[in-house]
Amino acid sequence: MVDLKELKERFFSLYGERGKTPAVYFAPGRVNLIGEHTDYNGGYVFPCALNFGTYLVIRPNDEGVVRFASTNFDFRTEVPLDRLSEKVDDQWVNYPLGVINEMIDQGMEPAGFDMLFSGDIPNGAGLSSSASIEMVTADALNDLTGTSLSRLDLVKISQRAENEFVGMNCGIMDQFAVGMGKANHAVFLNCDTLDYELVPLKLKDHRLVITNTNKQRKLTDSKYNERRAECEKAVEYIRREKPIRNLGELSLAEFERLQHLIPDETVRRRAYHVISEDARVLEAIHALKKGDLKRFGELMYESHASLRDNYEVTGIELDTLVDEARQIEGVLGARMTGAGFGGCTVSLVEKDRTDAFIEQLDKAYNAKTGLKADFYVAEVGDGAKRIE
Ligand code: GLA
Repeated sequence: MVDLKELKERFFSLYGERGKTPAVYFAPGRVNLIGEHTDYNGGYVFPCALNFGTYLVIRPNDEGVVRFASTNFDFRTEVPLDRLSEKVDDQWVNYPLGVINEMIDQGMEPAGFDMLFSGDIPNGAGLSSSASIEMVTADALNDLTGTSLSRLDLVKISQRAENEFVGMNCGIMDQFAVGMGKANHAVFLNCDTLDYELVPLKLKDHRLVITNTNKQRKLTDSKYNERRAECEKAVEYIRREKPIRNLGELSLAEFERLQHLIPDETVRRRAYHVISEDARVLEAIHALKKGDLKRFGELMYESHASLRDNYEVTGIELDTLVDEARQIEGVLGARMTGAGFGGCTVSLVEKDRTDAFIEQLDKAYNAKTGLKADFYVAEVGDGAKRIE
């Protein structure tokens, strides 16, 4: 947990005590419960916001510069207002800088600010540390500059900052969950229409446990883009008979009928994952609303199997965590969450068995992979907000 008192002291030691009292904003990380690699296909997702994320202490200055610092990285910088559009190679500041540029495009008057960020989300673990830093920046600047963009605008701005400024071609799920999440609810989002519903996350005597593989993710971006391209290819083939815009428009029955149009077996499997995953999201939400957590858990396993076999974005570390979790008593379901290739799994575990689960999985994972996993018992928190 980030200690706010300490964080503000750090802010004052960096930027001095002069001027106005700084404001403090927070944006969470997210975990996706089901609906993976469907967002950029106009499909369904079901993520929730976490109670850990990124804090931003921020105060206006009248010096015509934006100052960026973070407790997580050594790199600090100061950018004059007329040079905000310049990217800084390979640095975390490109996330807030990208947001600032997008907001200027939407009418924000640039102004000087001193900013100190501090995150307690493990970086690169697939829990959306990037969406979290984007949304905390967007929310704070929108408020403090009186730009009055809607929450949905801020979500879209954050996604565009990542796509265009940072250069990662992600879908909208992460920014949406981080922006729109609500404590004890998950966000059922239709990524095509952006219609959404906050569904109470009634887990009864169960908890969500997030397990970090701690595998260094390499090639994630290039593999991610490769999957996106494969899905676009599938759409192109299907369009020979049915004018769809994206795979999310097809039901499983339609896909069965049209799949012969896709000559490439790999591309066919990728499309099958997306369409079957969409169906699983709908069924999982139905099960949750009925209180059928057992079925919800089974669908998590099925989702993982499809990500492993059809979409091929798992790998030995994620597969080991899921296979081992399945052997442990009191576990209803487990799956990878996020882009894959490393990062985290999420498991649905009986409350009273949580400690035993962590202990057993820790041992088994280490024995099979030589790696040490990290565990977080997830609390489902609110989306981005001002806290002071
Ligand atoms: C990453 C992306 C999201 C989504 C997931 C896979 O987290 O940022 O937009 O595509 O991968 O579901």
